[in-house]
Amino acid sequence: MRFPLAFVVLGLSVGFSVAAPSYTIHSHHVVHEKRAAEPLDWVVSRRLEGHKRLPLRIGLAQRNIHNLEDMLMAVSHPESPEYGKHWTPEQVVDTFAPSEESIRNVVGWLENSGFSRDNIKMSANKGWIQVDATVAQIEELLDAEYHVYTHMETGEEQFGCQTYSVPSDIREHIDLIKPTVHFNHRPSPKSVTKFKRAGGLGAPSSSTGPKQSPNAKPVPPALANCDEMITLDCLRALYSVPDFTPKSKHNTYGIVEFTPQAFLAGDLDLFFSNFSPSLVGARPEIVLIDGAVVQTTNQSFDFNGESDLDLEYGMGLVNPQKITLLQTGDLVEGAGFDNWLDAVDASFCTFEGGDIASQDGIYPDPLPGGFKGPESCGIIAPPFVVSTSYSQDESTATPFYARRQCNEYGKLGLLGTTILYSSGDDGVAGNGGVCLNSTGLPDPNGTMFNPSFPATCPFVTAAGATQVNPGSTVFEPEGACEQVIFSGGGFSNIFPIPEYQKSAVTSFLKNHPPPFTSAQFNTSGSRGFPDLSANGANYVIGIDGEFELVFGTSCSSPVAGSFITMINDARLADGKRPVGFINPVIYSDLFREAFNDITMGGNQGCNTPGFTATEGWDPVTGVGTPNVSKLIPLFLSLP
Ligand SMILES: *[C@@H]1O[C@H](CO)[C@@H](O)[C@H](O)[C@H]1NC(C)=O
Ligand SMILES: *[C@@H]1O[C@H](CO)[C@@H](O)[C@H](O)[C@H]1NC(C)=O
Ligand SMILES: *[C@@H]1O[C@H](CO)[C@@H](O)[C@H](O)[C@H]1NC(C)=O
Ligand SMILES: *[C@@H]1O[C@H](CO)[C@@H](O)[C@H](O)[C@H]1NC(C)=O
Ligand SMILES: *[C@@H]1O[C@H](CO)[C@@H](O)[C@H](O)[C@H]1NC(C)=O
Repeated sequence: MRFPLAFVVLGLSVGFSVAAPSYTIHSHHVVHEKRAAEPLDWVVSRRLEGHKRLPLRIGLAQRNIHNLEDMLMAVSHPESPEYGKHWTPEQVVDTFAPSEESIRNVVGWLENSGFSRDNIKMSANKGWIQVDATVAQIEELLDAEYHVYTHMETGEEQFGCQTYSVPSDIREHIDLIKPTVHFNHRPSPKSVTKFKRAGGLGAPSSSTGPKQSPNAKPVPPALANCDEMITLDCLRALYSVPDFTPKSKHNTYGIVEFTPQAFLAGDLDLFFSNFSPSLVGARPEIVLIDGAVVQTTNQSFDFNGESDLDLEYGMGLVNPQKITLLQTGDLVEGAGFDNWLDAVDASFCTFEGGDIASQDGIYPDPLPGGFKGPESCGIIAPPFVVSTSYSQDESTATPFYARRQCNEYGKLGLLGTTILYSSGDDGVAGNGGVCLNSTGLPDPNGTMFNPSFPATCPFVTAAGATQVNPGSTVFEPEGACEQVIFSGGGFSNIFPIPEYQKSAVTSFLKNHPPPFTSAQFNTSGSRGFPDLSANGANYVIGIDGEFELVFGTSCSSPVAGSFITMINDARLADGKRPVGFINPVIYSDLFREAFNDITMGGNQGCNTPGFTATEGWDPVTGVGTPNVSKLIPLFLSLP
């Protein structure tokens, strides 16, 4: 969504006029948000100086947001007469702009608290009110205390408050205020796990010849070792991918990477020369967001693994369709999910929309050496598919933060974009295998399952991981990934179950009741994930000049995104819209046939075997893996 960046002074051009504040303070302050989880490894070092100035931004409650799911279903459900009739950005802004009443009340509150009208600004879409204030003023306004936190190892600093309050009759008019409680949990890749085979990998193309399995069909040499090494050919065989020659000139596919993660050109060429020689020299179209650089100074698996993987497989599958690399964040501060959202969706930007200064990168970056330019806001149109293989524990996000961001994914769905996120690599546990304690907080001794965000947002498509079972071929059914990583899956503690998956999830819980209680997972009927899956074990990638094997839902997400990109190409060439939000479709009876149901394996974690993959949807592999040959004609049959 593209809109002018500047906040405008209230009363000049916002069409907003109140002679005198209509608001009088008559209500008590009540806590609006509390930090979701205290950051491990950080200590409070001092109070933040009272004279420092902060850009205080108030995210106003959005009108009609409770109808978002229905609106999204209308353009995404295969039986809806409105299927594929995506919205314009203007429609999205008009529909969700906050009410005049909310604006009036919040502005009145600020004026009554001593802020002059001149100092109160509003974003063009009216979603955000900004006021520059000192820490002391903010502490009084929000009944909060700001502290500086220091990282125990690196000495890095960030600031925030643990909790903040607003007058009780203001609460209904705001979603959240920043910078406040949202601690900086930068997304981590979810996740490539290097695994060097003893004795080395050897050149992956020189396979050892077909396996001899008594009743299996003959396996061509290129597919002989897919249980030990996944290649482009293995994926094409597993998912019945037809030859792909792009027919549309307007198709787009974006892959998000967070700096300092970066691809190495030499790695792409190493991979392509071995597996897809015509692609040697091919590069993504790079979009730099918020001072991003594709850094090559530091080279190691941790710096290059995710980017090399995503691009080698994404490009390898869809070339010559171009891939847009959404490289996000500068070298100093990095970035969060909201930063890439800003770049494709100006209505969400700091200056137009909704990111959280302490959760996401703050641009211009106040830190020494940081990016001083303005934030990259609405600099490109949203690609039709965006794959992101990074995540955080849902338990570390506040519900207001998670919902606001999730709603933006829903709005991108209204515009016709498919948003894919990897579902996590620790099975039912969270990042690093950590589970939750009885108060819902990450705790090394926790025993409750710890779901992954944004995978739990009902408006994204969460991708889980499968494997070619050891000793099996690509012609036999896959199982849930149980090597090195386990497919993230389970149930949200924030988001209720969306309509489109009610029947699938209910049927899972009824016909295959998991041996757990509410002491392990949210049994109240919440959003289940993942939605679908794709292979996530033993991917051969070119990395730092050699071949290595990687594992993770990080593999599954860009591969699923490539398949949707192929489907979009077919639809665009047919004069149709891209598929947009696919969940209502993939859960429908019509499409069940087009997925390979995964019925083996589980996603262990938290000292349990986790959930079990079984007939129909399950919280390990979703509806299963795609059969692209079946999906293309089915999606073409939709309007
Ligand atoms: C690269 O490594 C050096 C030394 O380990 C470190 O100081 C620097 O911050 C790293 N750069 C990035 C982009 O992380
Ligand atoms: C839960 O874990 C948090 C740390 O994340 C800890 O502060 C809290 O005391 C724990 N609560 C219980 C009941 O164990
Ligand atoms: C966690 O478990 C370890 C060993 O099992 C124990 O030493 C420690 O006290 C426990 N911590 C908490 C907070 O219960
Ligand atoms: C379970 O999920 C619902 C959303 O469906 C949420 O409101 C509730 O707080 C969650 N329960 C727990 C214990 O987290
Ligand atoms: C995928 O669909 C094609 C076309 O219907 C079919 O020939 C193929 O066997 C299917 N693949 C699997 C693994 O079921």
